[in-house]
Amino acid sequence: MTDEQLIAAARAAALKAYAPYSGFSVGCAILGEDGTLVTGANMENACYRLGICAEQSALTTAQHAFGLKNIARIAVAGGDGSGEALSGEQAVSPCGGCRQALLEASQLAGRDFTILCASGDGSRIERHRLSDLIPHGFGPANLSDAG
Ligand code: THU
Repeated sequence: MTDEQLIAAARAAALKAYAPYSGFSVGCAILGEDGTLVTGANMENACYRLGICAEQSALTTAQHAFGLKNIARIAVAGGDGSGEALSGEQAVSPCGGCRQALLEASQLAGRDFTILCASGDGSRIERHRLSDLIPHGFGPANLSDAG
């Protein structure tokens, strides 16, 4: 699967977002080492702060489908999902909470992830290493001194 196909899957997933409060639809596509593709989208609710982000939605599905440690590649896209295709020109950037959840999977997998961050229309793509998105992050490896 090419980067473009993975981003296309994230953009398509964003169209399944439930985001009536923010109007901002995010999709995330995660490819497993075995070639299985899972997706997720943000899901808001009337208690605004309790919504679920696309990345965490997809990570949950990835955990069930092939396990967090077997994640191969990740793409995220966000924008306006009210039309037939996701639109918007600015590359989405994973929120702080999602960076933390991605760090958990990254440390389980034993390697730094590259996150493909796309604009809604897919025209803008940024490739970020997770270690740049969450430098000096606190993950499972940091609990090694726990009693
Ligand atoms: N959102 C995500 O799904 N992922 C991110 O990394 C950034 C933000 C969602 C949360 C909320 O439903 C909407 O985008 C606006 O913040």
